[in-house]
Amino acid sequence: MSKPRILVARAIFPDIVDRLREHFDVEDNPADAIWTPHELAARLADKDGALTTGSQRIDAALLAAAPRLKICANMAVGYNNFDVDAMTSAGVQGTNTPDVLTETTADFGFALLMATARRMTESEHYLRAGKWTKWSYDMFAGSDIHGSTLGIIGMGRIGQGIARRGAHGFGMKVVYHNRSRLSPALEAECKATYVGKEELLRTADHVVLVVPYSAASHHTIGAAELALMKPTATLINIARGGIVDDAALAVVLRDRRIAAAGLDVFEGEPSVHPDLLTVPNVVLTPHIASATVPTRRAMANLAADNLIAFLGGQGPLTPVNQPAPGLRGQ
Ligand code: GLV
Repeated sequence: MSKPRILVARAIFPDIVDRLREHFDVEDNPADAIWTPHELAARLADKDGALTTGSQRIDAALLAAAPRLKICANMAVGYNNFDVDAMTSAGVQGTNTPDVLTETTADFGFALLMATARRMTESEHYLRAGKWTKWSYDMFAGSDIHGSTLGIIGMGRIGQGIARRGAHGFGMKVVYHNRSRLSPALEAECKATYVGKEELLRTADHVVLVVPYSAASHHTIGAAELALMKPTATLINIARGGIVDDAALAVVLRDRRIAAAGLDVFEGEPSVHPDLLTVPNVVLTPHIASATVPTRRAMANLAADNLIAFLGGQGPLTPVNQPAPGLRGQ
């Protein structure tokens, strides 16, 4: 019997591709070419499964061009590159990679917060540019982390990880806003207090965004929300581009209406709003919050395991939808 055919849409660890070859006929992308939607559709025309990343949009047009496709295993916890409704109606399973990246991403969120509040990259650029000729009392004076108020918008697993770090490690007062409240036990473990979004924005010294992207969360932080924040506050986005209105943020940073921002994700990435590139009080990183070797390996392995389990006739391990069985012959 011939093996199912899969596409690995971006370059990943070669040994994990080799593991997939034990189960599947694999077309991979070791050169890491960025295919157009048309090129991706052509490659998926004869495939049963795909290992995708956030940079492949899976929508109705693509699914129509890939009649054998039964599963897309995203190597990411977020899956806003999937049109989940279109996949479900077409009978295509989607999976993601939760849990394996939680602590690494929370570490990064905290690192970005520290770097932003303490002006680390701005001061490093100053030093590298040879401008450090004398000490002065207020040189790169930032804001404190310890003992300050941390506001977290989006209190899923990663938000909880950041809350624990802040409350237990740095003695921060933690307030959070989320679609639903945590259980009293989880609130106690995270030492976190539920508040309305407006109260959070008005009172937090540091606001960290960890909400998944959807039409409903588009521009969760825009000009009106930025206007509520303290002039000394920092804003950290490790969620998704589009959660923040980047153009509005660049204006308030330029006018010093908030102190600073740390951004790992951007609207339209890998493009970055040009005004963000010119303001000094922002730390910019290229969507690397989950990027440690062990975690990226765990993500790729979980995506591979989803393909192996699902195309091997078992259920998906970490599904994001529940298509009716049989629509695509599975
Ligand atoms: C990264 O952004 C992810 O969703 O895993």
